Amino acid sequence: MKTIFSGVQPTGTVTLGNYIGAFRQFTELQHEYNCHFCIVDQHAITMRQDPKELQKTIRALAALYVASGIDPEKAVLFIQSEVPAHAQAGWLMQSISYIGELERMTQFKDKSDGQEGVSSALLTYPPLMAADIVLYNTDIVPVGDDQTQHMELTRTLAERFNSRYGKTLKIPEIRVPKTGARIKSLQEPTRKMSKSDPNKKATISLLDTPKEIEKKLKSAVTDSEGIVLFDETNKPGVSNLLAIESAMSGATIDEVVQKYDGLKYGDFKAGVAEAVISHLSPIQENYYNLIESAKLDTILDEGAQKANIVASATLKRMENAMGLGRKR
Ligand code: AMP
Ligand code: TRP
Repeated sequence: MKTIFSGVQPTGTVTLGNYIGAFRQFTELQHEYNCHFCIVDQHAITMRQDPKELQKTIRALAALYVASGIDPEKAVLFIQSEVPAHAQAGWLMQSISYIGELERMTQFKDKSDGQEGVSSALLTYPPLMAADIVLYNTDIVPVGDDQTQHMELTRTLAERFNSRYGKTLKIPEIRVPKTGARIKSLQEPTRKMSKSDPNKKATISLLDTPKEIEKKLKSAVTDSEGIVLFDETNKPGVSNLLAIESAMSGATIDEVVQKYDGLKYGDFKAGVAEAVISHLSPIQENYYNLIESAKLDTILDEGAQKANIVASATLKRMENAMGLGRKR
């Protein structure tokens, strides 16, 4: 059975973009693969976080994973900082990363641009991500397409490790969903829908109420043509809404286009809202049942235990290959 690893940062509230690009794939994949899903809190601190808020966000993210359908009997769900091998292997991967290649990462450039006091961990974030992945002998990494560059670097680093120290690490493949790999902002449909967007109207959170969802979709930016067609270049707003409804209802984009043939944007937006609300409402119900439960802690404790067994074995092989410590 092939192995999957993916991670989501506990920062802000999980958006519909995260759900469609990441979570939705995870729940499908857990039936066919040996899956590891991680709450990457050590990645979150590459930007400044409030400790109390971070605690809450970690728990909320864990509950959302389970509420969206991750089955702890099938997949290992855990918190990165509870498995020490991640930070340890991250250091090893840093030692084979070049400053120049890290500085070239788009995410680093975007997040550091114009900022004062940029954390050095923001620069060394990709080797930690590479460590996350290689520790589980991962074959496939399902992510949204904003992670393509990090995944290419992960492969480069794993290959470099193998060529310097002998074949130790598996070279992972990226897996991007066919539709919904990049859900766009509702207000600026050429940009991705992002957790960190200060404009709350631009993103749908997985925990938004039906009223909020309706309101946000009603004010979503479209165009003045009044025709529902999929054309990402000329009609980014409409195309984004089509991708959202398709992901929510399971219908193809063509089927969704057909559904709104001859209808006005008002009807279209109301229909998209209905699809989102009915898809999210059982997830929200599960979430509220889980968030305060002891069951969630048991899931995370067991997840960390299972993850630790695999990760520490790989770490040992990496250290041995590099000649660290005493070989045991
Ligand atoms: P992040 O919020 O950056 O931790 O991302 C968590 C996961 O969600 C990653 O796999 C991202 O690629 C994916 N993701 C984030 N934003 C979007 C988006 N707007 N559309 C599709 N996938 C996304
Ligand atoms: N960099 C990813 C993001 O911002 C999160 C992440 C960290 C990740 N480690 C990972 C994703 C390993 C996949 C695999 O979305």
